[in-house]
Amino acid sequence: MGGLVVRPFEAGDLVGAAALLAERHARHRRRHPLLPAEYEDPELARVEVNATWQTEGASGAVLVEGGEITGYLLGAPKPGAVWGPNVWVERAGHAVRDPEKVRDLYGAAAAKWYGQGLIAHFALVPDEPELIDAWFRLGFGSQHAHAVRAVPSTPYAEHQGLTVRRAARADVAVLAELDLVLPQHQGLSPVFSAGEVPTLEEALADWEESIDDPEYMTFVAEHNGRVVGMSIGCSVEKSSAHAGLAQPDNAGFLAFAAVFPDARGIGAGRAVGEAVLNWAAEVGYDSVVTDWRVTNLLSSRAWPRLGFVQTFHRLHRLLGY
Ligand SMILES: CC(C)(COP(=O)(O)OP(=O)(O)OC[C@H]1O[C@@H](n2cnc3c(N)ncnc32)[C@H](O)[C@@H]1OP(=O)(O)O)[C@@H](O)C(=O)NCCC(=O)NCCS
Repeated sequence: MGGLVVRPFEAGDLVGAAALLAERHARHRRRHPLLPAEYEDPELARVEVNATWQTEGASGAVLVEGGEITGYLLGAPKPGAVWGPNVWVERAGHAVRDPEKVRDLYGAAAAKWYGQGLIAHFALVPDEPELIDAWFRLGFGSQHAHAVRAVPSTPYAEHQGLTVRRAARADVAVLAELDLVLPQHQGLSPVFSAGEVPTLEEALADWEESIDDPEYMTFVAEHNGRVVGMSIGCSVEKSSAHAGLAQPDNAGFLAFAAVFPDARGIGAGRAVGEAVLNWAAEVGYDSVVTDWRVTNLLSSRAWPRLGFVQTFHRLHRLLGY
């Protein structure tokens, strides 16, 4: 431990931190080459670290060894009640040469956050086993997965007994019902998400307004003449959760999917997921991104089966208990 200093992050640390983030991203891309190449350049990585540092309420720590910055960690609270009194370490919020030392950095940064009453901590961690292990030994557990896959090289075929088609205005009533399925499911055990469930009227009004929006592609699956499921595809650029170094170039986004409880397990989820993958290939995207709660027993099993591979782990810890 000789010569190791952990001190608060300062503006003068941005260049050193960006170099570490660029290194981390290059390692990450060896596992997930669909992630964008340009952030291996420290200049571009600096844009990401700078944005994190400029976030309101940001603070953190750096690790200095022999005069060189060998690790940094930055967190900031996210507004809104959904996440509680929180701090998020976002996608560009940390990088370390030695994964173990993220524990020293967190130890220094979290003292301030706890002192501010911010006890719900979230960290977006690249898919590096040693780094995840170090976070786990800080009391964090897995909450959410970010994932990507290449578009299919040949279109998926239709599934027997299921008809998949583009949604039309005549579907808005059933689309509104399906809108409630995800938040309702995620409010249950073992997800226990605090996400708001809209009323049917709100969902209906939304669909009435947005059904013709050309930037969102909605598909429905019919079984025995009844719509049982739907999915939505769009550009990944519509999603703030998949931006910067977490945004593959030229990617589509599987933004939403739901199947009514009584129709699950017959392949409707696969069929509407494949419809988005086929559409993404057709319009010329190279890959498709999605994400899911790892405690959602349905999506966390369905999306890996459709070929999605996890790139980032959102970890969570609640202090004080
Ligand atoms: C997630 C959801 C859309 C999947 O739809 P579904 O109709 O239930 O899923 P499918 O029957 O098409 O199955 C999809 C795949 O998951 C697999 N799967 C399902 N349950 C599984 C289990 N317990 N273990 C392993 N694999 C499982 C299926 O075998 C299938 O893979 P395969 O085609 O290679 O065999 C649906 O369950 C749902 O609406 N859940 C609630 C809302 C939700 O979570 N939406 C997703 C938001 S991220």
